[in-house]
Amino acid sequence: MRNAIVEPVRFPFDAVLSSLTVCANLKPSLIIHGGAWNIPDEAVDDCRAGIRRALEAGWKVLSGAGTAMDAIEAAVVILEDDPTFDAGIGSHLNRDGRVQLDAIVMDGATLKAGAVAAVERVRNPIRLARSILEKSEHMMLVAAGAEKFAEENGVPLCAPEELVNERERMAWRRCLEDSHAAEHHVGHEHGTVGAVAIDRHGNLAAGTSTGGTCCKFPGRVGDSPLIGCGCYADAEAGGVSCTGHGEGIMKIVMAKMAIDLLHDQRVLVPHREKGGPLSLAQAVADACIRKLAHRAHTTGGLILLDRDGLPAAAFNTPRMAYGYVQPDASFRIAP
Ligand code: GLY
Repeated sequence: MRNAIVEPVRFPFDAVLSSLTVCANLKPSLIIHGGAWNIPDEAVDDCRAGIRRALEAGWKVLSGAGTAMDAIEAAVVILEDDPTFDAGIGSHLNRDGRVQLDAIVMDGATLKAGAVAAVERVRNPIRLARSILEKSEHMMLVAAGAEKFAEENGVPLCAPEELVNERERMAWRRCLEDSHAAEHHVGHEHGTVGAVAIDRHGNLAAGTSTGGTCCKFPGRVGDSPLIGCGCYADAEAGGVSCTGHGEGIMKIVMAKMAIDLLHDQRVLVPHREKGGPLSLAQAVADACIRKLAHRAHTTGGLILLDRDGLPAAAFNTPRMAYGYVQPDASFRIAP
């Protein structure tokens, strides 16, 4: 059982309240994360810089003619290419010393997803996930089959070694020599990155990408690429991307739980005042993290946009790297 901090952490409250009351009809909207983990002080600047670059990339798309899907892809590619985060380059190594990557994107209009798991030769699995969404009748491909799809559909492959960085190789060696421990990974036990966006036409998309857990058994797949667990998007309710301990998130199907709560609360409480003391989006995010702690006894976080573009985030780890675009187009970045 992992150590769970039960009370979810929220946005800085005053700042959010003021933005929530004005941004009810904000479109486009963008929120991203770089994982909920025990981010040490010395990694905070790198996390913030990565989140900023990803927000810039996604927002550039949304400010132009790009779609929500283009925006989440652009933002997640930046995070996959940044070794600070557990996705793409710099991902944790599995027990055999190899990187195996998982990713998903989902379109809120059609409810179609594209997902990949356990790929070893794809530098940007979010691109492959999108290609599956757009070009395949299927929604999820794994391992060699996913890489074959990449080859046949123009998604570039790389050598597996290109995904391995020295920090993670050393952490893996320490785990082999000693025993697996979060300390060997500078507190970076889970990681995962993700993004949710709404474009000026109201299209909503969400995506999640991860290297999974360190020293995982080869072939292990966590929550991230599973529809409803690590990601969900429904234009009638909102979009979600999760981070944290995959085996726990799967138990409560956390992304779908968030979307169902958003949807049901809208239906059940139609006269609820928007921008009240706690936005519906924030109340939903908090409820999911409480459930993760109480029923799965573990840690994690999530970001979401409701269907109007209102952002929320919650986590029960010491810190979560995340950021969103405020109504005046400035970026709010944590930690
Ligand atoms: N949430 C990432 C994983 O458990 O694989």
